[in-house]
Amino acid sequence: MQRIGVMTSGGDAPGMNANVRAVVRTGVSRGVQVFGIRDGFAGLISDEIIPMTSPSVGGIIGKGGTILGTARCEEFRDPAGRAKAAQTLRKHGIEGIVVCGGDGSFRGAHLLWKEHDIPVICTPGTIDNDLAGTDYTIGFDTAVNTALEAIDRIRDTAEAHRRTFIVEVMGRHSGFIALATGIGGGADAVLVPEIPPDIPRIISMVERRFAAGKRFSLIVVAEGVVIDDFPGAGSVAHILKKHGLDCRVSIIGHQQRGGAPTALDREFASLLGKEAVEELLRGGTDKMAGIVGKRVEFCDLEYSWREKKPIDMEVYRFISGAAI
Ligand code: F6P
Repeated sequence: MQRIGVMTSGGDAPGMNANVRAVVRTGVSRGVQVFGIRDGFAGLISDEIIPMTSPSVGGIIGKGGTILGTARCEEFRDPAGRAKAAQTLRKHGIEGIVVCGGDGSFRGAHLLWKEHDIPVICTPGTIDNDLAGTDYTIGFDTAVNTALEAIDRIRDTAEAHRRTFIVEVMGRHSGFIALATGIGGGADAVLVPEIPPDIPRIISMVERRFAAGKRFSLIVVAEGVVIDDFPGAGSVAHILKKHGLDCRVSIIGHQQRGGAPTALDREFASLLGKEAVEELLRGGTDKMAGIVGKRVEFCDLEYSWREKKPIDMEVYRFISGAAI
């Protein structure tokens, strides 16, 4: 291969820049021309391709967001959109691409390979950590640390006012951020979309904590939790208030997607970018580079979204069953 492309796609995640940097630098060191694709698959459709060199990725390792831009691209869901995208790649002589994104982006990359024979290697770039075949996704560690910083502040005010706080973290379909934030933040309960919530237990936990002289309670809720058709932290607050329990809601939201990546996100994003290029140049395609243990391992792209990554029940039970 003489020419490869790199894109970031779907929700941005801290560490995407480190991943792009590693792709570019590895490609350049192997004598390959690397092209950046702007705004994910949208940039392939609208032909926004930029040549990249080592200087073009200088100083980006510590930056949040993605210098290439990203998008969730509706047009690419259509076969005609994908045909346009393939045409753009052919026009530029790009023989294979590295796609950093989540499951939606991986499905798109998979179709590009299946329908148009364009080799694709993906790297897991989503704060949600919801992909099978990898212990870790780029951005997860930073997102959890951002949420923890917020929780530490919330605990101060909760304690001052003898309040219960319900903190909503991201995760539309998965509770990995909620679980990691819950254990790291010393939450008294955590609610995730994967497990039906035990509301009576939560009410009794809050009541018993105050009866025991505790000055605050913290409940972490993933945004994807739905109770009685109401989503997220608001649904829990509604129920607690009905039981006469005063509480406040704090939604951390998109802050979790921004900011400088942690050391772990920089390290793993870089390793994944490097290995993705090596695999592409070895002739690999339709695979995801993941982190298993502390090493890079590849799995079939389809496996990453077909297989449901399980929540760590031990951690869940530990938080739920902790002493008042
Ligand atoms: O996929 C990452 C994620 O941050 C989810 O946790 C969240 O539900 C979603 O993206 C939000 O996406 P958007 O910013 O496009 O609304």
